[in-house]
Formats: sequence, C-alpha cells, structure tokens
Amino acid sequence: MKKRLSIMLCACLLLTAAACGGGGTLESDENGSAQPEKKPNGAASPSENEPEQTSEGTASGRNVLVAYFSLTGEQYEVGVIEKGNTEIVAELIADATGADTFKIESTEAYPTTYDGLLDASRKEETDPPEIVGTVENMDDYDTIFLGYPIWWGDTPTIVKVFLQSYDFSGKTILPFCTHAGSGLAGTDRTISGLCPDSTVGEGLAVRGSTAQNDRESAKKSVTEWLSDNGYAS
Ligand SMILES: Cc1cc2nc3c(=O)[nH]c(=O)nc-3n(C[C@H](O)[C@H](O)[C@H](O)COP(=O)(O)O)c2cc1C
Repeated sequence: MKKRLSIMLCACLLLTAAACGGGGTLESDENGSAQPEKKPNGAASPSENEPEQTSEGTASGRNVLVAYFSLTGEQYEVGVIEKGNTEIVAELIADATGADTFKIESTEAYPTTYDGLLDASRKEETDPPEIVGTVENMDDYDTIFLGYPIWWGDTPTIVKVFLQSYDFSGKTILPFCTHAGSGLAGTDRTISGLCPDSTVGEGLAVRGSTAQNDRESAKKSVTEWLSDNGYAS
C-alpha cells in the first residue's frame, strides 16, 4: 500500500507544483487527545446535521460559518485517527472566532482504509455524493471558512457539491486545507471558479500530520492566518 500511496502523492505533488507553484504550508498543534466519532466515517443522519450555533457570536462581529469536510479512519502519515486532520483545524478556527460550524458529510459512509478511500474518491468524481442536511440560514453568513483535505491535488468532490448547493454571491470564502505535501494545490482557484461572485481570500494549508500530532503549531498557524484576515485574537 505504501508504494501506491507514495506514487499517488508524488504524482499529485508534481501536478500541484507545475500548476500552482505550490501553496504555502503553514503548520500547527499540541498532542491533544482525539474524541471518538459517534458516526460512521463521513455518514450522518439528516436530523443531526445542521450548523452548530455558538451562543456568544463572533469575536469579529461578522457572521461567520466554518464549513468543513474531514474523515477519520486510516489517513496518510498519521495512521488510524479518531478525529480528522481538517476537523482539528476547523475546531481551532471556530474556537478562535466564535463561528458556527457545519460538518459536510456524505449520506454514504466512506471506507475507513486508505486504499478503499483512494478508490472511493476516484469513483465519486463521476458519481457525486449527496450531502446530509443543509445550512438553512446560509443567507445569514457573510464569511465562510471552508475546510477540506487535499485529494488528488484538488478539493474532494463533496466540497464541490457543497459549493454548488448555495449562492455564495457577495460572500467571502476563506479556504483552509490539510494535506500531505501539496499545500493548497490551487484549490482557491477551484473555489473561485465555482463561486465567481464571491471573494475568495488567501487560504491556509496545514500538513495533516501537524494538525494531528502538533496541535500547538497548528494553532499558531491558525492564529496568524486569522490575524492576517482581520480576526484578532
Ligand atoms: C483520496 C486521497 C487523496 C489525497 N491526495 C493528496 C494530494 O494530492 N496531495 C496531498 O498533499 N495530500 C493528499 N492526500 C492526503 C490528505 O490531504 C491528508 O491526509 C489530509 O490531512 C486528510 O485530512 P482529513 O483527516 O481531514 O480527511 C490525499 C488523501 C486521500 C484520502
């Protein structure tokens, strides 16, 4: 399996470097203990999936949503994880900003082995997944932090489905990703292409192994990035 992963990642990294000049890789984190997921990998019941509202509102005074896709199970470089790499970063952003959160989940559970996930991710490119639940109050948000793992040098298909499900005109989208070397891989341009009437800000890229194993470092990167975007700590 390792050989297959390395070949896949090398190919993606080369593609990314050629196409995008590579995204900046910012890193993070402390060795916080992972919380067990209650649901199967990427699947949730519709009633459970709606934005989690915070009671305190946002520190910036803006109406902010953190929407993210992230999987547990076997992941590259980090073994079998109980909290997704991107979810860790999403929580850091939500904690710092007081934003509501929405976890993008598929109605079909994803495989929990890495090899299974590689296959499933390719298949869903031609057979897109359905997302559980909706952000009913999307109109209320002016800024969306959008998080995802880099898959094949791009955003996962389910994130594209999410972007095509709402009107983001006039909104600011701030992308953040976790990855295994590709950085943002030009995914900010993917998002701009799908949401031409939104403003897509400079993204944050955190290596998945950093998010998982060095949370202090991840937190530092998140704090700096938020500050650059006007979210003072
Ligand atoms: C199907 C698949 C494709 C991937 N492709 C890339 C890639 O092209 N470049 C890269 O740097 N990492 C790639 N990765 C690694 C993930 O981006 C990385 O492990 C990420 O942190 C996983 O985040 P999550 O736990 O939130 O799902 C890939 C992982 C999977 C499962």
